[in-house]
Amino acid sequence: MENLIAAFTSLTGSAPVGVWSAPGRVNLIGEHTDYNDGFCMPFALPHRVLVAAAPRTDRTWRVRSLNNGEVVTFSGEDLVPGMSGWQAYVAGVVWALGEAGHAVDGADLVLTSDVPMGAGLSSSAALECAVLTVLADLNALDIAGIDRAKLARRCENEFVGAPTGLMDQAASTLCTEGHALFFDCRSFETRQVPFDPAEAGLELLVVDTNTPHTHVDGEYAERRRSCDQAAATLGVPALRDITSDGLADALARLDDPIIQRRVRHVVTEDERVLDAVRRLEAGDVAGLAPLLDASHASMRDDFEITVPTVDLAVETARRAGAIGARMTGGGFGGCIIALVPRGEADRVADAVAAAFAEAGHAAPDRFIAAPSAGAGRIA
Ligand code: GLA
Repeated sequence: MENLIAAFTSLTGSAPVGVWSAPGRVNLIGEHTDYNDGFCMPFALPHRVLVAAAPRTDRTWRVRSLNNGEVVTFSGEDLVPGMSGWQAYVAGVVWALGEAGHAVDGADLVLTSDVPMGAGLSSSAALECAVLTVLADLNALDIAGIDRAKLARRCENEFVGAPTGLMDQAASTLCTEGHALFFDCRSFETRQVPFDPAEAGLELLVVDTNTPHTHVDGEYAERRRSCDQAAATLGVPALRDITSDGLADALARLDDPIIQRRVRHVVTEDERVLDAVRRLEAGDVAGLAPLLDASHASMRDDFEITVPTVDLAVETARRAGAIGARMTGGGFGGCIIALVPRGEADRVADAVAAAFAEAGHAAPDRFIAAPSAGAGRIA
């Protein structure tokens, strides 16, 4: 934080008026359900984007990233969708606020992030939500939490051009410390679900496979299209409307075995989220384990979004003592989460590292994740 404030002062010649932050997220369960109007349950990471800021009065935004040392400046006329680079996530938030009719004045912003990038931990949502929180405060905008998440997603979908759902921005904005966020992506109902692995004698280990996400955008868009196509064929607004009772009938009405598998993933994953909420609310953290395992199998076999390194990490973690494990995030690389007995996280992560070394894969990273606070002003 001192570095950030010093960097701000050296850029602008005066102190920031405040420091804000927004977190990355891990999704506990509920993958590729958000854009099907379904359910998911992410929690916020301690890893965050921090922004020191002060207002300007000239509708110019000057932004410095301490991660790459770059300084970019843009004005109102530069706010054109399709901008590339990290600055698009900042400019896109200004654009989305403007599109929604909020008057936003210029600002000086200095930011730094410790959310691992390209790891499926929502580093981009953290950046969007941090900037949105800063601009909402500096301009005294009264925007409800869920509407902030929607504005941040609009930046991502329409300005940056990534066709994501709402989970990541909702997590970064709405999560609270000590809880996972149950999120109904149709009604936008949210519930803070107590999640304290330590109390249950467990830890939630995150292993970053460091697998580069190649073809992620194309594959993600293709999964969305398959789901939309299946919903249209089945005559429902979204796959959320197929329940497990109606699954067999629905599958019988689809000819393509690939589409059948996609539908089965989404329908069973929604059920697993509801089951996970029930178990956590009953204080049964260990009860998550079989749901994590089933979710992984479903992503691997039905939705086909895992890759060999991710499957190896999950299988090795389980063999080394994790009670349940799954890939988290959009897929095709990224991170796995593993529920492990307290004190066993290093041993499990070491086993994954050894299996990766043996298979000739790059070394994975690891950390233990505790559910942390959502976006807000911190100083
Ligand atoms: C990415 C997207 C989210 C969600 C997940 C998969 O993280 O940004 O909206 O679809 O993938 O669950």
